[in-house]
Amino acid sequence: MGSGIAQVAAAGGHDVLLNDRSRELIERGIAGIGKQLSRSVEKGRLSEEGRAEILARIAVAPAIAGFDVDVAIEAASEHLETKLAIFRALDEACAPRAVLASNTSSISITVLGAATRRPERTIGMHFMNPVPVMQLVEIIRGIATSQETYEFTRDLAQQLGKTPVEVRDFPGFVSNRVLMPMINEAIYAVYEGVATPEAVDIVMKLGMNHPMGPLTLADFIGLDTCLAIMDVLYTGFGDSKYRACPLLRQYVAAGWLGKKSGRGFYAYS
Ligand code: CAA
Repeated sequence: MGSGIAQVAAAGGHDVLLNDRSRELIERGIAGIGKQLSRSVEKGRLSEEGRAEILARIAVAPAIAGFDVDVAIEAASEHLETKLAIFRALDEACAPRAVLASNTSSISITVLGAATRRPERTIGMHFMNPVPVMQLVEIIRGIATSQETYEFTRDLAQQLGKTPVEVRDFPGFVSNRVLMPMINEAIYAVYEGVATPEAVDIVMKLGMNHPMGPLTLADFIGLDTCLAIMDVLYTGFGDSKYRACPLLRQYVAAGWLGKKSGRGFYAYS
């Protein structure tokens, strides 16, 4: 999602510093953005010059030291310790004016903010996948997030052509509190032999007009991410209704993580 966010930010006229765990990963991200933009050129929605201008706004940033930025948007995997380490590092590295935003799907913004010396400038900016296509950005206020930070982030989302929706800092926010139990229930239907993955997906696509069936969507999101979100809901609410399906846990243990690993509920070549 990080490259999708970088693409949308650059297309919105912002200079972007793209950081990842290695230069190779950053370059892979930029190549992906280039490919997406080429498709827009082929469809006649973007000129070649427009594509070049967007790409020119994205710079490779192998390290975050001395980040002179207005906002840093973290989009690491859904792992609390990883995100805490990144927030501590961003707090050290970024200009004092910088807002620290997280694209987390479910982890508490209050907890991330407390790991920094600027909890009032820490906020959730939760984009949806694929970022260039999906309209929604959930804006999550931690308990200490200031009104100024909220307004800055809301305005930024709008300026990027998105529709911001304000939500409070509770496990899974709104999007994943509603979406993930549905996906988990779809996995239970397969686990209990009620129907095949294909059948579950057809029911939800043709019966409920969902653009993707829940199991296709789970593969698309990443089964490890789905499991991490269910675990945040389960521990956050202490309610057994959020218990992750054992089949989901088993797939993740097997390394069947969905589209990104080549196998999930479906096989990908
Ligand atoms: N990146 C960028 N653009 C993409 C894309 C991608 N990965 N995948 C598809 N698109 C674009 C296509 O280029 C196409 O653009 P145009 O209409 O401008 O030509 C458009 O999306 C539609 O694509 P397709 O016609 O190929 O396929 P589709 O009609 O099936 O749409 C989809 C694809 C938009 C992904 C659609 O299936 C969909 O909306 N799926 C549900 C997505 C969803 O629920 N996302 C939220 C996931 S949850 C999440 O992200 C948050 C979390 O915390 C887990």
